[in-house]
Amino acid sequence: MTARVLDGKRVAASVLDGVRARVEQCRTHGVHATLAVVLVGEDPASAIYVRNKGKRAAEVGIRTLDEHLPASTTTEALLELVERLNRTPDVDGILVQLPLPAGVETERVLLAIDPAKDVDGFHPDNLGRLMIGQPRFVPCTPQGCMLLLAEADVPLRGRRALVIGRSNIVGRPMAQLLLHADATVIMAHSRTADLRAEVEAADIVVAAVGRPELVRGAWIKPGAVVIDVGMNRLPDGRLVGDVEYAAAAERAAAITPVPGGVGPMTIACLLANVALAAERRVPA
Ligand code: GUN
Repeated sequence: MTARVLDGKRVAASVLDGVRARVEQCRTHGVHATLAVVLVGEDPASAIYVRNKGKRAAEVGIRTLDEHLPASTTTEALLELVERLNRTPDVDGILVQLPLPAGVETERVLLAIDPAKDVDGFHPDNLGRLMIGQPRFVPCTPQGCMLLLAEADVPLRGRRALVIGRSNIVGRPMAQLLLHADATVIMAHSRTADLRAEVEAADIVVAAVGRPELVRGAWIKPGAVVIDVGMNRLPDGRLVGDVEYAAAAERAAAITPVPGGVGPMTIACLLANVALAAERRVPA
């Protein structure tokens, strides 16, 4: 079997078409969807993400406000900025790019973002709502993975879905979404006794650990669906996922490539959340 390749660029483009239409609709009601992007320090990967977000936002008519602060910024100064953005009525979404520099208290900053403007869906209030099945904003990467699974027509009800990685921004919310879709969800992480056995038993594998090719292709159950969230730069410059792609693609029914799989979906889902926030500002 050779896997169907789940083309995140194509699915993201169609999500973005929908976002563009919704943003235009908001403008007819005098609401210009606006995203504030806060970048602290000079992390090169973060700078690239932020630039890409700005580009894609402009393409769909979303206005971005860039707040770039030096790496020496204190937690207090960042909290002040977040408070100001919370109070600015025409800012629909606030995104604080992670990771923050070591000296900044990330939890306090995320907690300070108005949950109604938390388009990343990282605020405990929003994560809690997701857990009880009443989401306000769904975190973008897990949402993107779910859209790719939907695109591939992957049945989830009753199937065994393995999520590898328990981060607050991908693994945990991903498990919740799969659970709401009636999958039988298993979470694996760095202390899992036998990762290979878990992968071999899984109908759906979502890998989000940031370890290059941790999941060997030979472990994939024939006909399984593989969603690879990893983006790892090797010393030779190659970009690889958390799954050994070529070997996995020989066994899987469908698989996401790296790059061009989950990556483009994250930004598209973020901008969809901004459109949602702007729609909530449209007068009834
Ligand atoms: N850093 C890596 N991914 C993300 C993301 O989705 N949102 C934010 N705010 N920071 C990130």
